[in-house]
Amino acid sequence: MSYTFATYMKKIITILGIETSCDETGVALVKCSKVGNNYKFKVVENLLHSQIKLHKKTGGVVPEVAAREHAVKLPLLLKKLSDKYGLTKLKNSVDAIAVTSGPGLITSLLTGVEVARVISYAWKKPLVAVNHLEAHIYANLLQANLRQVRSPKSEVRNFEFPLLALIVSGGHTELVTMKKHLNYKIIGSTRDDAAGECFDKTAKLLGLSYPGGPALSALAQKGNPNAIDFPRPMLDQNNLEFSFAGLKTAVAIYLQKNKVEKKKEADIAASIEQAIVDTLVGKTLSATKKYKPKMVALAGGVSANHALRRELKAELINAHPKIKVIEPSLNYTTDNAAMIAAAGGIKYFNSYTTSWDRIKVNPNLQLK
Ligand code: KG4
Ligand code: ZN
Repeated sequence: MSYTFATYMKKIITILGIETSCDETGVALVKCSKVGNNYKFKVVENLLHSQIKLHKKTGGVVPEVAAREHAVKLPLLLKKLSDKYGLTKLKNSVDAIAVTSGPGLITSLLTGVEVARVISYAWKKPLVAVNHLEAHIYANLLQANLRQVRSPKSEVRNFEFPLLALIVSGGHTELVTMKKHLNYKIIGSTRDDAAGECFDKTAKLLGLSYPGGPALSALAQKGNPNAIDFPRPMLDQNNLEFSFAGLKTAVAIYLQKNKVEKKKEADIAASIEQAIVDTLVGKTLSATKKYKPKMVALAGGVSANHALRRELKAELINAHPKIKVIEPSLNYTTDNAAMIAAAGGIKYFNSYTTSWDRIKVNPNLQLK
C-alpha cells in the first residue's frame, strides 16, 4: 500500500517520532516546516523512558532485557500522548510516523517498528524509516539549540553544505560528508570499538558505574589530562580511520601494572578522556583539510562531552577560521525521539515514505 496524500503539499507537518534502537524508549511530536531549502522544527513533546537504572545492575545493556523494557514502556509513553491530546485529535494532527529502523539492537528496533507499523495501519498514515545516525546529525537543527559557535548571537538556521559530521555514539564513530540534505558519504569509521564504547569500557575498568561515558567525564574534570600518556590510536596514520580497542587495552595494562591510589583515579580518567578527544579532534581536522566543508557538525551521545566540544571548536576555529561549527544542545545529544521525528520530517518532505507492510529493520543499517 502506498500513500500519496495531499498532505505532501502542506507547509507545516507534524511527525510522531519513535526511538527504541538501544536502551532509551522515546516518543516525540515535532512540527516541521520547509522554507525553500531550509527546515525548521518545533519540538511539541519529547518523552523519554531511560533504562539506565535497569542496566546499571548488569553494568551494560543486555539486549533481551532492553527489548522487553521497550515493549512495556513504549505503549505507556504513547498513552501519555493520547491522554494529553485525545486519541482522535492526536491521530488527526499527525501526518506521518517516523521510526528508527537501524542501526541498533535487532530486538529493540523491532519493538519500535512493530508499534509504528500498527499505528500506521490503524491510522492510515505513512511511515518514515529513519537511520538512527542521520537523526543524530539532524538533532543539530532542533529549534532550541541552533548555535553558531564563532558568533553566538547570529544563529545558524540551517546546515551549510558541504557539511562534515563527526558522529560519536555508543556503537559508532564515523566521519560523514553531506553534499546536500539526506545525502551521506562515510569517509572514515572505526575498525573496532567506537569512542563511546571506549569511554564505557575504560570507565568500567576504573570501577565506575554504567553508563561509563558521563561518569568518566565527570571524574576527569578533577584530574590532570597530561598525567599519563595513553596512546592516540591511528592519529599518526594518514587516513580517516579510528581504532579504540588498543586504547582500552593500554588502560587495562596500566591498571594491572600500577597500584592506583583513589586520589589518582581522576588523573587516569582525565588522561583517557584526553586521548579519546585528541584522536577525534585530530581526525576531524584531517578530514576538514581534505574535504573543505563549510560546516562541521558534532553528533551522537559522546557529543555531550565538554572536553570534546571545547577542543573541537578551539582547534577548528584556529585551523580554519571560516568554518562554522555546530553542536546539538545537551538535551538532544543522547538518544531521543525528537531527533527521529526531525529527520523523519525532512525525509517526509522529500517523499522518503514507506508503508506498514514494506518497512524493513536493519541492525547494521549504513548511512548512504
Ligand atoms: O548516541 P547515544 O546516546 O547512544 C547510541 O546511539 O549508542 O550514545 C551513547 C554513548 C555512550 O557510550 C555514553 O557513555 C556516551 O555516549 N556519552 C558520553 C557522555 N555522555 C554520553 N561519553 C563521554 N562523555 C559524556 N559526557
Ligand atoms: Zn544514539
